[in-house]
Amino acid sequence: MKTLHVELGERSYPIFINDKLLGQADLITPYIPGKQVLVVTNETVAPLYLDKVLTSIADFEHEHIILPDGEQYKTLEITQRIFDRLLQTHFNRSATLIALGGGVIGDMTGFAAACYQRGIAFIQIPTTLLAQVDSSVGGKTGVNHPLGKNMIGAFHQPRCVIADTSTLNTLDDRQLSAGIAEVIKYGLIRDVDFFYWLESNVDKLIQRDSEALAYAIERSCINKAEVVAADEREGGQRALLNLGHTFGHAIETGSGYGTWLHGEAVATGMYMAADLSHRLGWLSADSLERIKSLLQKARLPVDAPIEVSSQRFLELMAVDKKVLAGKLRFVLLHAIGQSLVTEDFDHKHLHAMLDEIPRIDSKSLAS
Ligand code: NAD
Ligand code: GLY
Repeated sequence: MKTLHVELGERSYPIFINDKLLGQADLITPYIPGKQVLVVTNETVAPLYLDKVLTSIADFEHEHIILPDGEQYKTLEITQRIFDRLLQTHFNRSATLIALGGGVIGDMTGFAAACYQRGIAFIQIPTTLLAQVDSSVGGKTGVNHPLGKNMIGAFHQPRCVIADTSTLNTLDDRQLSAGIAEVIKYGLIRDVDFFYWLESNVDKLIQRDSEALAYAIERSCINKAEVVAADEREGGQRALLNLGHTFGHAIETGSGYGTWLHGEAVATGMYMAADLSHRLGWLSADSLERIKSLLQKARLPVDAPIEVSSQRFLELMAVDKKVLAGKLRFVLLHAIGQSLVTEDFDHKHLHAMLDEIPRIDSKSLAS
């Protein structure tokens, strides 16, 4: 088993990565502070993995709640169901929540844990590639608002992250590719050698080669843990983890939550950021082409949705969390592996990129 650490002083925690970790009581038990545990999952993941997790917490007073599946349910209304259950069952301040599922369940459960009685413990058991390489690590939690993605949330770190790579065997191909988008992100923002590794190994990831997947998860988590340890609350370099997300969140909100997978929207968003960087004279044509080729090899989109016009992109991006003093800020690239956050560029290039980026029908993603 690989064990990594997110170093955050008294809030430090381990990330365990291996196959067949679910069901291991001795792994999870030390991270449950009290006697009461509520497992939060959804209707897709519950039949696959809930029993195993319940076995591992059999010695605790435990409950579970099964939420509807989908990005469109990552809302305050659905999170209320978690609070209802916690109160109905008289769970107290020493209770622990366990998030069993992808990033949607992880973000909602973490948010519920941050709010319930002003904050209780929680554990992440991520079951998608995206959640294992990104969303379960770092303590960003929250829900969507009709006007903006992840706009209601809190920083709240988990007690541990248990990434059981065997859960990826049941993930469908489209979801696997969506997770690879966030893996590629680390190469682009800060780890050029990882980008080169991905160029040579992306086919293995697509084919679910277990060694390649384990390596990609570990290297992604190392990158994420380093960034989070240096800048937990996104005062500086953590913003780089949002490469492609300003465009991507506009795609997700503008096309209707759940139409584009988060990773797909990030893939196109990263390509848009790279295209803009190239127009600004910062990124070479060769690098832009390599980025496009890697995303396409990972079976990810690089075109924007027809239904989100340039004007709509600008309206949606105006509520981005990186807007500072009314100014839009973007994560852009100087080179593969060298990123920066900036507002300081001629916006005529942004408008030209938005007008000229090819458009696709969102329905083609599901086919
Ligand atoms: P998701 O949670 O919707 O999961 C994708 C789909 O896979 C769902 O239908 C889910 O039920 C299903 N699923 C989960 N595990 C499975 C398994 N092992 N086998 C079969 N099916 C399985 O989506 P996601 O891609 O995991 O996460 C996306 C969310 O994560 C977005 O809401 C995004 O905003 C958020 N996110 C958060 C952070 C963060 O730092 N907190 C970072 C990146 C993304
Ligand atoms: N996914 C962006 C972050 O965790 O900061």
